[in-house]
Amino acid sequence: MTFEPLRSPAGTHDVLWPQSARWERIIGDFADRARLYGYKLLITPVIEDARLFSRGFGDASDVVGKEMYVFEDRGGRTLALRPEGTASVVRAYIQHRPATPWKVWYLTPAFRYERPQAGRYRQHHQIGVEALGVDSPEQDAEIIDLAMGTIRAAGLSDIELLVNSMGCEVCRPVYEGVLRAFLAENVHAMCDYHREHWSEVPLRVLDCKTGECRAVTDSAPRISEHLCDACMTAFDTVQTELQVLGITYTLEHRLVRGFDYYTRTTFEIISHSLNASQNAVGGGGRYNGLSEILSGPPTPGIGFGIGLERLLVACDSEGAVEWHDPGVDVYIAELGRDTEVSLLAHQLRNAGYSVERSYENKSLKAQLRYAGRLGARIALIIGDREIAEREVILKPLVSKDEQFTVGWDRVIQETGRWLEKWKKQ
Ligand code: HAM
Repeated sequence: MTFEPLRSPAGTHDVLWPQSARWERIIGDFADRARLYGYKLLITPVIEDARLFSRGFGDASDVVGKEMYVFEDRGGRTLALRPEGTASVVRAYIQHRPATPWKVWYLTPAFRYERPQAGRYRQHHQIGVEALGVDSPEQDAEIIDLAMGTIRAAGLSDIELLVNSMGCEVCRPVYEGVLRAFLAENVHAMCDYHREHWSEVPLRVLDCKTGECRAVTDSAPRISEHLCDACMTAFDTVQTELQVLGITYTLEHRLVRGFDYYTRTTFEIISHSLNASQNAVGGGGRYNGLSEILSGPPTPGIGFGIGLERLLVACDSEGAVEWHDPGVDVYIAELGRDTEVSLLAHQLRNAGYSVERSYENKSLKAQLRYAGRLGARIALIIGDREIAEREVILKPLVSKDEQFTVGWDRVIQETGRWLEKWKKQ
């Protein structure tokens, strides 16, 4: 019996080269950049106890209520595929109690059962950082600086930084009361969904992207006008710091983000080249109460996550495709078989040169054609005569120079000399 070939599940995708080369470049840049800001790599499991997320985000959040992949394992435990990175980092912090400040970066797949469309997937990938143990507006601005630097380095420029403060356990409930009273007066003008559900979490109405709700929330009371003195001072300092760092921003009083754990500074970086309903390339904020919600010690925290797929879609729609195939340094064309060829390839690679070979004894013409497709800069041609004479024919492929013969013991040196010469031109 034959079966239909299987495909990747809806909302997931394979990343093949050359797309994967763009991922590699962004991730590599982020790892370097995070190190400069003092972050160390953290790796945590993709599966977690499902209660981590229901406690951390609040049962009323869309991620927990509608989007989480939850399953029972063979031992009867209720596990979830991680929908984001922050809760796992805080769980790891509580479990291991590293000294604070604890600053980590991560690269993780994230799973959300959403309706798949361009820029929204059921498995997406985030690069992010979390800093635990310090509650300082200077750190908030520094984290925003890191997020902006990462996004700009990927090639995006048509972006906007939105910032807001979510207040704290003192001032937020007061504001929620004011907002609730305002929304109660405007229920009739809300979107179908929020006419029914607005009172469950009034703050979510601020996040709603429908024209109806946006018209209502345009004139809603603003949280910035209800911050307590401590939150107000912190938010003012964040803004001063951003100005000093030369980072332009827009105050967006409706930026409440999708998780209940946020306190004080929240931010999002949107791309104007993406469809407005999912134009956030990255987002984050402070979550000073999350450790306690998860039964850990009181520990302030802040971080962000950048969606890699979103970032690349935005780069494509801005035309900011900043990547070229670096090609291969050396192609070994072998016309006969000898173990010496394997040794030469090994030595060249260990000397730092990328090497490809055919493994099959195809014609020289076919092999050189393949070398061209790989973008090889040099071909080393080795036939029976060369092996007997302990020689190699070095054929420059990126210049019109004539090919010539080199003694086996000088191949690596000569290869390096030619590559260096072209680099300088
Ligand atoms: P988030 O805003 O839910 O925040 O996700 C961060 C980024 O991941 C978004 O800005 C977006 O680029 C990308 N993203 C989210 N959902 C999808 C999806 N379904 N398909 C494609 N891309 C998506 C968080 O996850 C927080 N953990 C960020 C954070 C870190 N806050 C504090 N620390």
